[in-house]
Amino acid sequence: MSHDTSLINKQRQDLSTFESVWLFGYGSLIYKVDFPYIERKPATISGWSRRFWQGSHDHRGTPESPGRVLTLIETPGETCTGMAYRVSPAVFEHLDHREKNGYLRFFTPMQFQDGSQEDGLVYIASSDNAAFLGEAPLDEIATHIAKSRGPSGDNSEYLLKLSDGLRQLGVKDPHVEGIRYHLEMLQAT
Ligand code: SIN
Repeated sequence: MSHDTSLINKQRQDLSTFESVWLFGYGSLIYKVDFPYIERKPATISGWSRRFWQGSHDHRGTPESPGRVLTLIETPGETCTGMAYRVSPAVFEHLDHREKNGYLRFFTPMQFQDGSQEDGLVYIASSDNAAFLGEAPLDEIATHIAKSRGPSGDNSEYLLKLSDGLRQLGVKDPHVEGIRYHLEMLQAT
């Protein structure tokens, strides 16, 4: 699969008949909100967990030296809490460009805190995309993040802002917090 998934995403779902569409954000979409939205609220999806297993060639690294960013990995029994945004379909023009490095959008059911449910689009970089890096020990991921940077800034900024954003949502994600622990140990030495 090519690195740039923006064209594929444009053809995946015809959103032209929608007045608004829900978007589920679990990574940078939690803390970097560079798009207009109609409303937002925390939401949870089932059967997925966050993992720093995706390479970043365009934001937190370069093609020669990719950074490590989040994707979702199918994990039966797990839940993933993030932020849901109700947006105009036109916003996906921008989002498809921003998430072009291997992410494809999928509709998934999202649960809100009041018990209600909606389908929302989520960007997932699956293991067959060309930028996928896969599993590694948490201390190795932290070392990788500590030395990576790209056009959007330091890879460590992605991790720390995400972890802060999750804490504000009352979420302590063991994968994210474990990598943060190792990163802060490296930064302290
Ligand atoms: C997301 O935040 O939902 C997608 C992955 C990312 O942009 O970090």
